[in-house]
Amino acid sequence: MGNHEMDSLDSLFSLRGRRGLVTGASSGLGVECAKALAMAGADVALVARRKDRVTQIAAELAKTHGIKAIGIGADVTRERDLDRVMAETSAALGDVDILVNNAGVSPTGRAENFKREAWDEAIAVNLTAPMMLAQRVARRLIETGQPGRIINMVSIYASVASSVYRLSAYAATKAALANLTRQLAVEWAGYGILVNAIAPGWIPTEATEGGIAKGANKERMEAFTPMKRLGLPHEIRGAVIFLASAASSYVTGSVISVDGGYQAW
Ligand SMILES: NC(=O)c1ccc[n+]([C@@H]2O[C@H](COP(=O)([O-])OP(=O)(O)OC[C@H]3O[C@@H](n4cnc5c(N)ncnc54)[C@H](OP(=O)(O)O)[C@@H]3O)[C@@H](O)[C@H]2O)c1
Repeated sequence: MGNHEMDSLDSLFSLRGRRGLVTGASSGLGVECAKALAMAGADVALVARRKDRVTQIAAELAKTHGIKAIGIGADVTRERDLDRVMAETSAALGDVDILVNNAGVSPTGRAENFKREAWDEAIAVNLTAPMMLAQRVARRLIETGQPGRIINMVSIYASVASSVYRLSAYAATKAALANLTRQLAVEWAGYGILVNAIAPGWIPTEATEGGIAKGANKERMEAFTPMKRLGLPHEIRGAVIFLASAASSYVTGSVISVDGGYQAW
C-alpha cells in the first residue's frame, strides 16, 4: 500500500466498495458494528436468529447510508446455516472482505453449579462459530487472492476475571477467542488478512439490561472504571471502522480495549 492511499481522511477510513458481514446484528453492539461499516460506505450483511429484526435494520441502513444491506436469519452454531450465510451474502453483495464476529452469549451462574448446557452453548456461540465463519471467509479470500479483515468481539473478561459477575464460561470463551485472534493473525498475515479483536467494557445492551447492568452491580462497574461511567453502544463504532479500514493497515493480532480504562489498572 503506497502513501498515496493514506493522504486524505477518506482514503484512511472509507470502506466504499467493501463487503461486511456482522453476526449478532439484531441488537446491541452488533447493530452498531453494522452501522459503522455502513456509515463508512461498505455494503453489509446482518446475521442473527431474529430474521425480522436484521431485515428491518438492514433496510434502515440501506436507506440512510445509500449502501446495499441484507438481513439473514441464521443460528451461527449450525454449520448449514453458516454455509447459507456465505452463499446468500456472496449472491447479494459479493464476497465478504470484512467479517465481524460479534454474536455472543453471557450466561451467569456459580462456577460450582454451572450447567453443562450453558457452558456448551457459550463455547459454540462465542468460540466455535467465530472460527467456523473466519475459516469460510479466509478460505475464499485466499482462493481469490484478496485481502480482508476479521474483527472478533471479545471483552475485558478475555484478560481479567470478574468480581462483579459469575461468568466462568464467558471468561473462558472470550480469552480463547482473544488468543485465537492472535493465532489467525499469524497464520493469515501472509495473505493480507488482518485479524484483530475489540474488548469492550460494560456497555448497556439487551444482554446486560436484564438486571446485571442495574443497581449495585452497575455502581460497582462504574467504580472500577477510571472514566466512572459505563460505555454507550455507539462508542464501539470508531474501533470497528479503524480495524476495517486502511487506517489499520499495519495492525494485526491486536486486542483494542474500548472500556473507559477498565484494564489500565
Ligand atoms: N454489552 C457489553 O457490555 C459487552 C461487553 C463486552 C463484550 N460484549 C460482546 O459484544 C457482543 C454483543 O453483545 P451485546 O451486548 O450487544 O449483546 P446482545 O444485545 O445480547 O446481542 C447478542 C447478539 O448475538 C446474537 N446471537 C446470540 N446467539 C446467537 C446464535 N446462536 N446465532 C446467531 N446470533 C446469535 C443475538 O441475536 P438473536 O438473538 O437474534 O440470534 C444478538 O444479536 C457479544 O459477543 C458480547 O460478549 C458486550
